[in-house]
Amino acid sequence: MIYWPWDESLSVGIDVIDAQHRRIVDYINDLYVAKQTKDQDKASTILTGLRDYTRTHFVFEEEVMRQSGYPLTDAHKKVHDAFALHIDHYVQQHESGKDVTAKLLSELQVWLTNHIKRDDQDYAVCVTRMTQKSWVQRTLRRFFG
Ligand SMILES: [Fe+2]
Repeated sequence: MIYWPWDESLSVGIDVIDAQHRRIVDYINDLYVAKQTKDQDKASTILTGLRDYTRTHFVFEEEVMRQSGYPLTDAHKKVHDAFALHIDHYVQQHESGKDVTAKLLSELQVWLTNHIKRDDQDYAVCVTRMTQKSWVQRTLRRFFG
């Protein structure tokens, strides 16, 4: 039972970030299974895991952006913060007994798809460029002083 199959159009071209995005997609697919099997306890555990993992991932991305000198880091962080609060809100609703899973699944898929394809792929280009540049500089220094 797969709600959202990963596809290469979601790749940002940086393996570690792709792996984290895939993990989030896995959480979403697990949440779908919990919903289909009406397993509320499992849904609660997955939701908490999804919330915590997403926050950790956002912090990681923000650090990568900052390190590479990406000029839109602060704006990107604001988008992350707003979305993290949005997920918190869903978790609270779930904990108060409301069935928000279907709505959450569809919003997460739409939000993440748009975010990855627009905002994340944008900073990834900058990070990749900076990484290559510093690699080239290190290599040049090594060979030519
Ligand atoms: Fe992001």
